[in-house]
Formats: sequence, C-alpha cells, structure tokens
Amino acid sequence: MNYRHAFHAGNFADVFKHAFLALILTHLTRKDAALRYLDTHAGVGLYDLTGEEATRSGEAADGIARLDADPPQGEAERLLAPYLETVAAARAAHGPTIYPGSPWIAARLTRPQDRLTLCELNPQERETLTRAMRRDARVGVVGVDGYVALGAYVPPKERRGLVLVDPPFESRDEFSRMAAALVRAHRKWPTGVYALWHPVKHVAEARGLADAIAAAGVRRVLRLELVVGAAGPPPRGGGPPLIGAGLVLVNPPFGLEAQARALLPFLAARLGRDGAPSWRVDVVAGE
Ligand SMILES: C[S@@+](CC[C@H](N)C(=O)[O-])C[C@H]1O[C@@H](n2cnc3c(N)ncnc32)[C@H](O)[C@@H]1O
Repeated sequence: MNYRHAFHAGNFADVFKHAFLALILTHLTRKDAALRYLDTHAGVGLYDLTGEEATRSGEAADGIARLDADPPQGEAERLLAPYLETVAAARAAHGPTIYPGSPWIAARLTRPQDRLTLCELNPQERETLTRAMRRDARVGVVGVDGYVALGAYVPPKERRGLVLVDPPFESRDEFSRMAAALVRAHRKWPTGVYALWHPVKHVAEARGLADAIAAAGVRRVLRLELVVGAAGPPPRGGGPPLIGAGLVLVNPPFGLEAQARALLPFLAARLGRDGAPSWRVDVVAGE
C-alpha cells in the first residue's frame, strides 16, 4: 500500500470527481430525511498544495489551479458552485493553500441529521483523517478495508445515501474487484446511490467497468467520462499515462445526467492538456 493521495490532490481527476460528488450531495440533501455517506477509500480529508508531495508532482497546476486562474462563468459557474464554495470554505478554515478531499467535501455539504462513515486502511493516513474530521460528531473513521465495508455497511440504517468508491488502483484486478463489490452491495441495497471513480488509461478497459455492472443486472447505470489527453506528468512507478477519469453512477439523482451533459464540455475544455480533450455521458443501463 504505497499510494498517497497527497501527490494527486487537486488534479484534474479530483476536480472532476469532487465537482460531481458535490452535485450529487446537493441533490440528496434537498429531502429532509437523514442520509448516510460512506467513503470506502477516504484519504486524509485535507491536503496542503504547498506540501512536499503536491509540490513534487505539480498535478494541481492542471486541476484546481486552472479554475482559480480563470473562474467559470454562466452555467458552469452555477454547476460548480457547490464544489467551489466548498473549496473556498476549506481555504477559509485551514489556509489558502488547502485543498479538501472527499470526506471534507461530504461533511461540508451534509446536515446535522446525516452521518458519515469514512474507511481508510493506511494507519498514518487514517490518523491524519481523524484529525481533519475530529470536531464533527457525525463522522466515524474506521480502519476497515473499503470493499469489506462496502459489503458490510449497506444498507445503512438511514436507508438512503451515497457510497463513494475511490480506490488507489494499485492492483491489476481493481476494475473487476470494484465491479464485483458493487454488484454484491447493490443486491443488499438496491436503492443506494453509488459513485465509482476510476482512472482512464485505456478507454476500452475503463468503459468495461460500467458494462460489467450492467451485465450483472444492475439498472440505472450512468457513465461519465472525461479525457484530458496524455500530456501530463509521467506516472510515478511507470505504466501508461493517465489520460482521463471516469465515474460510474448507479441510481444517479434525477437531473444529474443533464447536469453532466452541461458541465463536462466545460471541464474538458478547461482541463484538457493536449488539444483534443473529450467527454462522454452514457446511459449504460436504464430504468
Ligand atoms: C484515491 S485515495 C482517496 C481519495 C479521496 N477519496 C478523495 O477523493 O479525497 C485512496 C485512499 O484509499 C486508501 N486505501 C488503500 N487501500 C485501501 C483499502 N483496501 N481500504 C480502504 N482504504 C484503502 C489509501 O491509503 C488512500 O488514502
């Protein structure tokens, strides 16, 4: 377990993931009923973009820094507001060089009646996460394997909520493990909202995740894909470069598909690296 998200905090893939995380939570908190947020691979919650790891990778320069340099206007501004207001709140609370991870974003966008369960297996990262979230009595931080948690913690007692599955993709079989874990969880909790983040290195392999989930009989599967191009930093540890990122959404809130079709062209244009960025929204399985 060598992965440290501090190298990648605030990069294009984080902007994409966190913008949609914020939009989904905005939908889900419109109803008063309490919800549960389960983050199976939580990270440390807050990242310092002037820290050693972020400075060494420089990845935030092609991510959140591009939005800072040229803030979105019009429809993109409206759709990015929940995300960018949360980034601004994290900076106001912890300093101007801070970038919030998914637990902090979720904590900010949920309400007193909601509960958050955050899984982080790396003991040091877990300690940092616990410190970042410590004043929030709604939050439970656990050192449980994210896929074990996905099977064990659903359905939550609130019977509504969101699961973010965002593993480090260090192992070769991550796509198939993720699909199998989602299908198992969905059998136990078919009405939960699930968001599965994945890297795009080979487009066909990445698209296979949503296809495998749909082939197992899961309905209401939406695939979001953002390809920024290959001109990024060479991957640490070798292998093909990261050219994009995707989210597979199961039971997305009503209206999210239209929002994705409006927001992704902006993100592709703003975060693209090699002149040929692209985006896609596919309904892989309908009602
Ligand atoms: C991609 S990062 C998470 C980023 C975070 N979700 C965010 O958006 O801010 C993946 C995290 O999963 C942790 N991790 C690795 N293997 C794990 C496992 N089996 N179960 C839970 N967490 C794990 C890593 O230590 C790392 O902090």
